[in-house]
Amino acid sequence: MKLARFLELHRPDDRALAAEAAAGLLAERARLSPKFLYDPLGSRLFDAITELDEYYPTRTEADIMSAHLASIGATVLRHAGDRPVLVDLGAGNCRKAARLFDAIRPRRYVAVDISVAFLRESLDCLQREHPDVEMLGVGLDFSARLRLPDEALGGPAVVFYPGSSIGNFAPDAARRLLREARETAGGGALLIGVDLVKPTDVLEAAYDDALGVTAAFDLNLLRRLNRLLGADFDVRRWRHVALFDADASRIEMHLESREDQVVRWGGSARAFARGERIHTEDSYKWTVDGFDALLREAGFAATAHWTDAERRFAVFVAGG
Ligand code: AVI
Repeated sequence: MKLARFLELHRPDDRALAAEAAAGLLAERARLSPKFLYDPLGSRLFDAITELDEYYPTRTEADIMSAHLASIGATVLRHAGDRPVLVDLGAGNCRKAARLFDAIRPRRYVAVDISVAFLRESLDCLQREHPDVEMLGVGLDFSARLRLPDEALGGPAVVFYPGSSIGNFAPDAARRLLREARETAGGGALLIGVDLVKPTDVLEAAYDDALGVTAAFDLNLLRRLNRLLGADFDVRRWRHVALFDADASRIEMHLESREDQVVRWGGSARAFARGERIHTEDSYKWTVDGFDALLREAGFAATAHWTDAERRFAVFVAGG
């Protein structure tokens, strides 16, 4: 029986993470990278978010993909040729990519995530379902730099980046990642999901749902900081805030102090006044034309896109 292979290219370094978190807390406007949201509980809370009525991106992308699978697949293969390598960025449980297998018929599937631990079970299971596809799991922090080893590639690839995760990068960083995706595709194609600009009430509800799951996802970051830094955050003294900044075209998530307080860790401390915030995530929303221009700035010469009837979300294929 064929077995999936794994390459671990990322070693989590808790000391470096702790130093980064402390610097973020001590900045004049406290700010943390959204990567701190994803500890084991945070990842489960994010999965729960994708099932909420208010959080439309996951199901809208899935609907677009299934309604247009044949034409999306044909467009991708026009760039990448038959039996390409399929590179899945942020693969997780690999289920989104698995839905593409019949349309794309990859010869190799390269699942990339921050750690191979996230990939092991799902990739082994997928390998049993598709014994004819070579499977490789790669543990890599591609948000820092997307560069895969030669043994993972070889020939044109389809780089798949679903879920509108590109929205969690500011435009300059998004352009850089798209450039690296183009290099990785090696003359093949990028298949990417993008959340679109829409009325503020719809956006703010998607990031501050009635059940409070997104609030729990955001607040859980404080528990992570308590473990990482030995800090004494009391989650009950904070509240989740999600606001759409129309000028920057992004949802901002913040944790807001409910009262004047001092948080301590190690030999450090930070005073927070009532109403002061820690900025925890940005989620940029694009127009179709704006994202098309970004793809072209990243070097792609040919683009196509598909949207839902309400134009909430877009799936782009870019090549050239
Ligand atoms: C992972 N990423 C695309 C999500 C988003 O919509 O920006 C993260 C998220 N944050 C709050 N809800 C979902």
